[in-house]
Amino acid sequence: MSDTQHPLAVLGGEPIYPAGPPDWPITDSEIVKVFQELIKTGDWGRYHGPHCQRLREALKDSHSCQYAHLCSSGTAAVELALRAVGVKPGDEVIMAAYDFKANFTNIVMLNAVPVLVDLRTDDWQLDVNQLEAAISEKTKAIIVSHLHGGLVDMNRVRSICEPRGIAIIEDICQLEGARIQATIAGMGGDIGVMSFGGSKLLSAGRGGAIITNHNLYQQRITLHTERGNDVSPLSEMQAAVLLPQLHQLDERTRTRTDSAEKLFDALATTTGLTPIRSSYKDSMPGYYKAGFQYEPTAFGGLTRDSFSTAMIAEGFAVYPGFRSLHKIHSKKRYRAVGDLQEADRADDNILTLHHPILLDTSDWQSVFVQAVDKIRQFSHDLITEAN
Ligand SMILES: Cc1ncc(COP(=O)(O)O)c(C=O)c1O
Repeated sequence: MSDTQHPLAVLGGEPIYPAGPPDWPITDSEIVKVFQELIKTGDWGRYHGPHCQRLREALKDSHSCQYAHLCSSGTAAVELALRAVGVKPGDEVIMAAYDFKANFTNIVMLNAVPVLVDLRTDDWQLDVNQLEAAISEKTKAIIVSHLHGGLVDMNRVRSICEPRGIAIIEDICQLEGARIQATIAGMGGDIGVMSFGGSKLLSAGRGGAIITNHNLYQQRITLHTERGNDVSPLSEMQAAVLLPQLHQLDERTRTRTDSAEKLFDALATTTGLTPIRSSYKDSMPGYYKAGFQYEPTAFGGLTRDSFSTAMIAEGFAVYPGFRSLHKIHSKKRYRAVGDLQEADRADDNILTLHHPILLDTSDWQSVFVQAVDKIRQFSHDLITEAN
């Protein structure tokens, strides 16, 4: 380092983790084999072939369920799930005030009303204690998303929703392969939705799926999607690349979880960056993102966004999370339960670490902590630079 170089990479210094995370998606020998086969058979360009059917069967097997429907994205899967459970104009659908934007938009698109509930203070997941206050005679369904390494208490969601006939859509787009209270993620409610987007744990560039045991839901999906042609299909090529990843999923879930735990242990004495963790029995989280509650006062008032920019410059993919939904939509579009105070906090201060690094088996966790400490030490320089 020259005398003039600032210790922080974002102010011109050397990044502390120059290698950065491993590439994503992973082009391993299994994927190479798939593409060789696709070329040999010509299945890469065919409407029909064996791969979609194999993927449906593999999803049914791994989730012990009766139906698996493949589609073009997680967003399409959520829309289909809402249609499957029979959401109609004027119905209400409960969801967390902090969630993926398209889940909100999908409800609005069906002329139904999102009912936003606040988050738990400790792990910023949907606060199940607020569900009863959210329910009205118009409530048709709930979307439960487990986000950024956190888990929602599905046992309690079921105990509240099932007796009232409220359909439970479990969004597992961020944790395929996880286990929640002894149940595989996606089977904790009436219908599970997953994403195979390009950054996701199971990647096909784009894609999604729905899993369920309800015959009626499957029929409604078929009715909606099959119009002489499938309206939101997954291709044979996409299904083919997903199959080996599905087989590798358990092992990768374990590796990612061990890696995240090691990071959380390394951060145990660090203030201002609290990992999002939920501690339900018989559970194994999934880490599309590892989330953190950021506390600016622990960094001399440095904003979450400036901290994120500084971490990215150091080589760590630490980004702000979603916007909370009540912050980016007109009040006319939703009904809110309570003051959504925690969703306000999450909107300002949630951070997420993108998953590829969790498969890196080097000791990057201690380097991560060094980066955090370095940013804390020189936070005044960053604040001065920003002003
Ligand atoms: C929680 C959640 N639900 C749904 C989706 C939508 O998935 P897709 O990008 O495949 O449309 C995402 C995507 O990031 C997500 O994080």
